[in-house]
Amino acid sequence: MKPKNGMFIACVTLSMVVFDAASQCSSRKPVIFNFGDSNSDTGGLAAAMGYEFEYPDGRAFFRPPTGRLCDGRLVVDFLCENVKLNYLSPYLESVEPDFSNGANFAIAGSATLPKYVAFSLNIQILQFRRFHNHSLRLQSQGNKNFVGEDGFKNGLYVIDIGQNDLTAAFNNVPYDQVLQKIPSFIYEIKDAMWGIYLLGGKNLWVHNTGPLGCLPEKLGSLKPDASQVDQYGCIASMNEAAKAFNSQLQDLCQQLRDQMKNTTIVYVDVYSIKYSLIANSSTYGMKSPLMACCGHGGAPYNFDPKIKCRDAGFDVCEEGAGPYVSWDGVHYTEAANTIVASAILSTKYSTPNLPFNFFCNN
Ligand SMILES: *[C@@H]1O[C@H](CO)[C@@H](O)[C@H](O)[C@H]1NC(C)=O
Ligand SMILES: *[C@@H]1O[C@H](CO)[C@@H](O)[C@H](O)[C@H]1NC(C)=O
Ligand SMILES: *[C@@H]1O[C@H](CO)[C@@H](O)[C@H](O)[C@H]1NC(C)=O
Repeated sequence: MKPKNGMFIACVTLSMVVFDAASQCSSRKPVIFNFGDSNSDTGGLAAAMGYEFEYPDGRAFFRPPTGRLCDGRLVVDFLCENVKLNYLSPYLESVEPDFSNGANFAIAGSATLPKYVAFSLNIQILQFRRFHNHSLRLQSQGNKNFVGEDGFKNGLYVIDIGQNDLTAAFNNVPYDQVLQKIPSFIYEIKDAMWGIYLLGGKNLWVHNTGPLGCLPEKLGSLKPDASQVDQYGCIASMNEAAKAFNSQLQDLCQQLRDQMKNTTIVYVDVYSIKYSLIANSSTYGMKSPLMACCGHGGAPYNFDPKIKCRDAGFDVCEEGAGPYVSWDGVHYTEAANTIVASAILSTKYSTPNLPFNFFCNN
């Protein structure tokens, strides 16, 4: 009885948070540009590579799926819903794109380094520069599918990257060498933020990286022993590296607030939100937080590097029966993203604690 009631209350409270926080832009049309990896890719990789992701992706919301590595909506989708904005079209989408509300440059697999490969953060910024240039021209010619000067100036620039850099850094390298690489990732993010600023962007919203060591993909591939995991079963060294990255990212945001005149830079502690969700998953009525819904091999992680979700022979959890936190071992489920997005929108994890719609209401 008790946990059931607790669960119910938790769900009601959270959905109320989503709706209470739903906040239109009163004075101007919201415009959002997003940069990052699969955590916020709304179909960019699918468009670039000609992939059609199929069931079970999208099964909780988008049918057919839309190129999101998820059963439904991503955090960025919930942020768009919050300001009554259409979901962002990927920059590379050539089939009926709508860029009147911004564009999404995030591509699954992206990292900050190496710098000159598709689709690093640097390439995404170069794409943005090209988009900016042509969008201004087209919009001034009356094309309503593009963004004009005001949109670029008052728009929100969201950055969510780093997970793939840390993943790559951990490839057969000892922990102290992983730590040594982190400043080079932060340097690339700094470069990207300057790139946006120099083109006139003044509202930045930066997500830090989540607890890497809690991903079923890492756990199922590395099979850590008891000495390597923390009290919730996550790989401690990976989470420590994520926290080191985040601390430098937070410092960067502070440094740039001083250097970039007239900008607002909001740093969001997504790590704490996700870690708290994993630690308290049963409070949210969620299933084993270290186990992928879509994968192979069963408990404890349901992640088999040889038969991943989308590979021939994968298994997928029953739909609607107490959601999992992890969709495919790397990406969160829509149910988890709902909770993460409400926590982001609560402003409790933001520095400074600005509401998400700040950029369109001044
Ligand atoms: C903008 O695009 C035009 C072509 O439309 C090109 O000649 C120009 O170099 C571009 N400017 C920048 C800053 O990229
Ligand atoms: C900052 O904003 C103020 C007031 O809008 C403006 O006067 C000033 O020129 C801006 N400074 C820069 C560097 O853009
Ligand atoms: C779990 O939830 C409790 C109550 O909200 C909170 O105090 C605690 O910090 C959470 N655990 C973690 C690891 O975040």
